[in-house]
Amino acid sequence: MGIKYYEQQRIYKLDTPRTSYMMAVVDEENFLGHMYYGERLEDYDLTYLLRTGEAPFVPSENSRERCSFMDCFPVEYAGHGVGDYRDGCIRVRSKGGHSGINLTVVSHDIYDGKKKLEGLPATFGGEKECSTLEIHCEDAVLGLKATLMYTVFEDVDAIARSIKVTNVSEEELCLTKVLSACLDMDNKAFERITLHGSWARERRIQRQKVGYGKYAVSSLRGEPGHQEHPFMALVTEGTTQDMGEVYAMNLVYSGNFLVQEELSQFDSVRMEIGINPDDFSWKLNPQESFQAPEAVLVYSAEGIGGMTRSFHDLYRKHLIRSPYKDKKRPILINNWEATYFDFDTDKLISIAKQASELGIEMLVMDDGWFGRRNNDDCALGDWQVNEEKLKGGLEYLVKEVNKLGMKFGIWFEPEMISPDSDLYRAHPDWAFAIPGRTPAMARQQYVLDLTRKEVRDYAYECVAKILRSANIEYVKWDMNRPLCDIGSLGLPAGQQGELYHRYVLALYEMQERLITEFPTLLLENCSGGGARFDAGMLYYSPQIWCSDDTDAVERLMIQEGTSLIYPLSAMGAHVSDCPNHAVGRVTPFETRGYVALAGTFGYELDVTKIPEEDRAMIPKQVAMYHKYNDLVREGDYYRIASYGENQSYDCYEVVSKDKREALVTYVQVLNRPSRHSRRICLKGLDAAAKYRVEGMDGVYRGDTLMKAGIQIENMWGDFKGKIIYVTAL
Ligand code: GLA
Repeated sequence: MGIKYYEQQRIYKLDTPRTSYMMAVVDEENFLGHMYYGERLEDYDLTYLLRTGEAPFVPSENSRERCSFMDCFPVEYAGHGVGDYRDGCIRVRSKGGHSGINLTVVSHDIYDGKKKLEGLPATFGGEKECSTLEIHCEDAVLGLKATLMYTVFEDVDAIARSIKVTNVSEEELCLTKVLSACLDMDNKAFERITLHGSWARERRIQRQKVGYGKYAVSSLRGEPGHQEHPFMALVTEGTTQDMGEVYAMNLVYSGNFLVQEELSQFDSVRMEIGINPDDFSWKLNPQESFQAPEAVLVYSAEGIGGMTRSFHDLYRKHLIRSPYKDKKRPILINNWEATYFDFDTDKLISIAKQASELGIEMLVMDDGWFGRRNNDDCALGDWQVNEEKLKGGLEYLVKEVNKLGMKFGIWFEPEMISPDSDLYRAHPDWAFAIPGRTPAMARQQYVLDLTRKEVRDYAYECVAKILRSANIEYVKWDMNRPLCDIGSLGLPAGQQGELYHRYVLALYEMQERLITEFPTLLLENCSGGGARFDAGMLYYSPQIWCSDDTDAVERLMIQEGTSLIYPLSAMGAHVSDCPNHAVGRVTPFETRGYVALAGTFGYELDVTKIPEEDRAMIPKQVAMYHKYNDLVREGDYYRIASYGENQSYDCYEVVSKDKREALVTYVQVLNRPSRHSRRICLKGLDAAAKYRVEGMDGVYRGDTLMKAGIQIENMWGDFKGKIIYVTAL
């Protein structure tokens, strides 16, 4: 079992296959100190690292300098306002109006397996796969109990953490901050990696040196957003894909978040992650509890690539639940970029017909099939089939598509309401709004107040009714604007601060209901592209649309940032038409195919209109998908070169777990005048095994291919790509 408690020294030791995490309870007051996180160690008594022997230091021996102790002690879960001046993890407003809180240890439980987090997405594992430590803490002054939860997995170098807070006093308490995880460490000349972007430019990697003060990434959009991401990694100076230490945090949550690091006067770094405390408060009546979302911690001594592979394994094995999680997804064709709002039954059938002949397996009907939705100004909320467009109704269309041997999928945006909709005219109060203030529109739409049960039930029924009416096997659940102006008629004044989190809980409840009622459904989440591509949504849908930018070159960077944490099996990626609708660039159809193969794969174009030579390539791409998708979905991901960094070419590789096969994708974004071939070194192969490299004569050992590398010939022109398949003998 991966968790041990050493009673005499009061030490908790958590082991994953290659990492150790250690805490100790110190002094008479039972402070919980963070002792070590890093490569796996066999020794456990490292209490000297907590400096408690450097007398007089601990409060019981030196109460005149209690603040000095509080302000430098590497604490496991930091309180607030009681002498530690670094940003804490938890804050309350007591009946008396005070905010101080200090948690100390009372007892603990250790058990095999992992409990569910009520109402929240979280990693899971059976009794043989993981074990859990619950450390029960209290603040006796407040009458507040807190359970710190840690789960370690037998097969992945990751630790899942969260906290549950209970009011055991006789008075109401108000939580104003409850983060999910905290890590106090000495600074190792850290550099910080975070992800940023905008619409159609999601999750670009930023790397900066850590300096004194605080650096925070956060969202107040009600979703993580295109702009920021609930992820941070601190890496030792000069860390590469293959070498160096990495401490990473990711939040399994789809709403407002905060991730922050703070370098203090003593050169210690505090890294924290959780729900954004801005615009957050939560009323706790006596005996009530609050469960914070789960944070995932990954340590890698093998550089950024090691971190990536741990996240991928954890999410593939212990987070994604869909029946499709270990299966090839049907190759889909989506009509959004093909037709936008201008389609009807005949048009869709003509696309499906042509697509089915080329080997495409599912037609997805995107926005515009309901109400008077002929543009994006109206009708969200009116989820009745527009039979003027869909003559013969939805069932007829689905049957016709099924007759072609294809599955049928459909688009929804259930969380939204257009001011110009029958729904809004009937229920104007169902949209979030602050009394007396006209809410700001985005894409001419408002957000439904899903925190109200009647609204949530209505929105759910709209989706479910359509799904019950025909053989629909896939849903794209979209969300095309962030939240603002939130105010709800469903909650009293003192609880309006709960709305952002309640909204996320409502969303989770609706999606849980959906996949329970339709257990075989393939659900793909989406938010104006990839604004809600997060670990929380992966609990409900095995794939998420990565970005509205389908340009092959832009996608290299978007997919690099996304795959830093999330498995390729989850990345919605399609081949679209050119000039690209987001950036106007023209790239070869072949390259677009190679880039989309790194994700779920599909098409987003009018297959009846594209050039004949492009159309002729589709069956080959379909065959490649069928040949390589098991490897891409299940293998270990290695980044060889980054176009985002070198502004010239991109290269990544997926190696099967048994190291018997590998697929290298290479995109020469910019041609060079010298027209020399380029050397790349493969990664992750079995050094002693012999391999054949497609396109090369001879047989080579893995170490040769990894150390000496292979030459990739120059290709005439920009945006040229190729894939190289490597197989063991
Ligand atoms: C969002 C999605 C697109 C498409 C449109 C429809 O932008 O990301 O793929 O579904 O909405 O309005």
